Amino acid sequence: MTTLAILTAAGSGARLGRDLPKALVGLGGIPLVLHAARRLAGSGVVDALVVTAPGGMRDVITHLLTADASVTIPVTVVDGGPTRQASVAAGLAAAGTSHEVVLVHDAARPLVPADLIRRVVGAVRAGHDAVVPGLPVTDTVKQVAPGEDAELVVGTPDRARLRAVQTPQGFTRELLERAHKAGQDRSGSEAVAATDDAGLVEALGEPVHIVRGDPAAAKITTERDLRIAALELED
Ligand code: C5P
Repeated sequence: MTTLAILTAAGSGARLGRDLPKALVGLGGIPLVLHAARRLAGSGVVDALVVTAPGGMRDVITHLLTADASVTIPVTVVDGGPTRQASVAAGLAAAGTSHEVVLVHDAARPLVPADLIRRVVGAVRAGHDAVVPGLPVTDTVKQVAPGEDAELVVGTPDRARLRAVQTPQGFTRELLERAHKAGQDRSGSEAVAATDDAGLVEALGEPVHIVRGDPAAAKITTERDLRIAALELED
């Protein structure tokens, strides 16, 4: 069973407030997308990489990854889409049919540990068709509805049963393709694109399993997240 990873890097990173797309922002002098690609390639369980590039950045990202001695697996770079879901679909279209397992990983999680990548791939190979890494939630989470001058709390889910999910998320290629196809068919009626791939699988009614996540795979959204990641890199 071989594995292909789709590395989503086409976001603008508006919340980071830089001139560059987030995937090209440096962490310890190395762009986030290169950190993530090195970790996927170095895990020993990923055989090929498809990267979704932000507008006009395909050549830059191709050069960055193919010139790096640590990215030892074949890399294809495609243009991303207007949403993360559309970018993953573009990645899947370029993935071909020779890999049975597909990981989807966000370049916004550059310090993902190799152990976590191996845990996800191992669980898919062991027979779970959809696997996501998750961590217990430490904050109490409220569900809200719009209110007149302040949001209204409509529920408090039991924290013990909540998980904050990360990437890479792993799937059999067949299931991920089916989930994206159904998601595209629905997209006329549903305005909001899925923020993760497991959500599309859940919408099919197919089971999704959780493996233990890792705080080091934290997502970089803000300048503060970037500073915390830089501290982790120094350790
Ligand atoms: O926007 P968000 O931080 O949730 O994006 C998660 C990941 O999806 C990032 O790595 C980003 O580059 C990627 N993305 C993408 N195409 C988009 C939007 C986001 O590949 N249109």
